[in-house]
Amino acid sequence: FAEASAAGEVATPELKHDIAKVGVVGTGTMASGIALVFAQSGYEVTYVGRSQEKLDGVVGYVTKNLDRAVSKGKLDEAGKEAVLGRLTGATEREALADVDIVVEAIAEDLAIKTELYKDLDRICKQGAILATTTSSLPITRLGEATSRPESVIGMHFFNPAPVMKLVEVVTTPATGADVDETVKALCAKVGKVAVSCGDRAGFIVNCLLFPYLNDAVKLHESGVAIADIDAAIKEQAGFPMGPFELLDVVGNDVSLAIQKELYAEFKEPGFAPAELLEQKVAAGELGRKTKKGFHDYA
Ligand code: CAA
Repeated sequence: FAEASAAGEVATPELKHDIAKVGVVGTGTMASGIALVFAQSGYEVTYVGRSQEKLDGVVGYVTKNLDRAVSKGKLDEAGKEAVLGRLTGATEREALADVDIVVEAIAEDLAIKTELYKDLDRICKQGAILATTTSSLPITRLGEATSRPESVIGMHFFNPAPVMKLVEVVTTPATGADVDETVKALCAKVGKVAVSCGDRAGFIVNCLLFPYLNDAVKLHESGVAIADIDAAIKEQAGFPMGPFELLDVVGNDVSLAIQKELYAEFKEPGFAPAELLEQKVAAGELGRKTKKGFHDYA
């Protein structure tokens, strides 16, 4: 990552804060992937979940990914053990007292996140950065829940986090320039590419991607088969996945929450969530994570 300065020179962001220990809050797909990204890049990672069972889920995710790398000859057993050794699970948030940055990837619910940020503000050491992976909530509001809004920033990873290179780095009007620069430098250190975004609904990618996914559902509602839409987009238009395959990867609940947020913000009639998307969520058919979404994964 490099950024053009006013003089036209290219400046590489620097770590203005030392980052050695990383905290991750959450145990879902994104949190697990992000914990793996940091541990693979040599960082000590403390990940916090609500139960031992959920922590075990993170170990399962990480082990499966590392085993795949071993079976492909990209990693040896010692390398796998080293990555696992850098990951420490905890059910108490107090375990985050000495981390340099927390990356939060919990439920997309403002009340739940606000409670967490108040707690992180109390627990984390002075100067620790609080980064949220939210894709649908105002980060400014999370900053306001703390006494350190200058340390609160968005780090929007994409799914699957270990593979997708992009991270949208989202600053609020209160975010410190040193924090912005540190997070961008950190992205580069873990092999990601950072782009700058303001705190607006959908940032860059989701603002474009989710109306397209929602339109695919509406197109299907109008009578076009899912298999035909997926095949046309994937095989003929050259996208890596068809829209229904991607909806199932992202999760219909997550997609619906993002689409609702875009609709509320931009009031475009065409942004109204597709009825079938609402129905899928109501039926608990969320995608790969529930083994059934627009496709079956039994
Ligand atoms: N977790 C970890 N690694 C994975 C993975 C997963 N879920 N899926 C695939 N991989 C790895 C594979 O192991 C493989 O690694 P190596 O190159 O080291 O061998 C690599 O990714 C490529 O995988 P495959 O060859 O099996 O499959 P592919 O070429 O079809 O790539 C893909 C898979 C990268 C997921 C590709 O299909 C893709 O890019 N899909 C689109 C994903 C996308 O658009 N994501 C954004 C969603 S929006 C979002 O996340 C924002 C939000 O706010 C919700």
